[in-house]
Amino acid sequence: MSGVRDPLRLGILLSGRGSNFLAIAESIRAGRLKGVEIAVVVSNVAEAAGLQAARELGLPTAVFVSMGRKRAEHDADVIDCLKAHSVELICLAGYMRLLSPEFVAAFPNRILNIHPSLLPAFPGLEAQTQAFDYGVQVAGCTVHFVDEHLDHGVIVVQRAIPVLESDDAHSLSERILAEEHLAYTETIARVASGEYEIRGRRFVK
Ligand code: GRF
Repeated sequence: MSGVRDPLRLGILLSGRGSNFLAIAESIRAGRLKGVEIAVVVSNVAEAAGLQAARELGLPTAVFVSMGRKRAEHDADVIDCLKAHSVELICLAGYMRLLSPEFVAAFPNRILNIHPSLLPAFPGLEAQTQAFDYGVQVAGCTVHFVDEHLDHGVIVVQRAIPVLESDDAHSLSERILAEEHLAYTETIARVASGEYEIRGRRFVK
């Protein structure tokens, strides 16, 4: 026995620019996130900038266009792909598609999502604008396990920032995004360590 564990294999799912994916990839490259590797990057949008970035990094990629397809059928293809790449932990990184119950059940407590608000406040789309328009004084982001409800599962990491008098929705979004990039790496490190328990809704180290 060498005592050295094989790297935990991540599957990244994205639909857009992919800055959270790139932050994770950079954390791995820079040695800030140890014991994990990106097994595959999957997109439901063929033109996603994040997908092109993954190709340029030489990572395995796959595209399953979701437009016009039944959710369960599309998800079955994605599940097969993730299993074929021996993915152990899935990171939704701007994946703009709800997962079917079958997808969630195929990877219990092995799917993470990042959301740009302090959940349970402001689930759904344009969370940063929702928060800004509401007038909150503290905003932030949440990384949580995915369950069958939207933006709802057990919270692993939250990072908070003050809303500044000089902010507008755009500047607030940019400052939240910088926190997202830190939060995803922190979350993956915690989950990859295996040193946690889920007690009810609580993630306990
Ligand atoms: C992020 O704000 C994330 O919280 C949300 O979608 C956005 C994705 O951005 N779920 P990027 O594609 O990672 O740059």
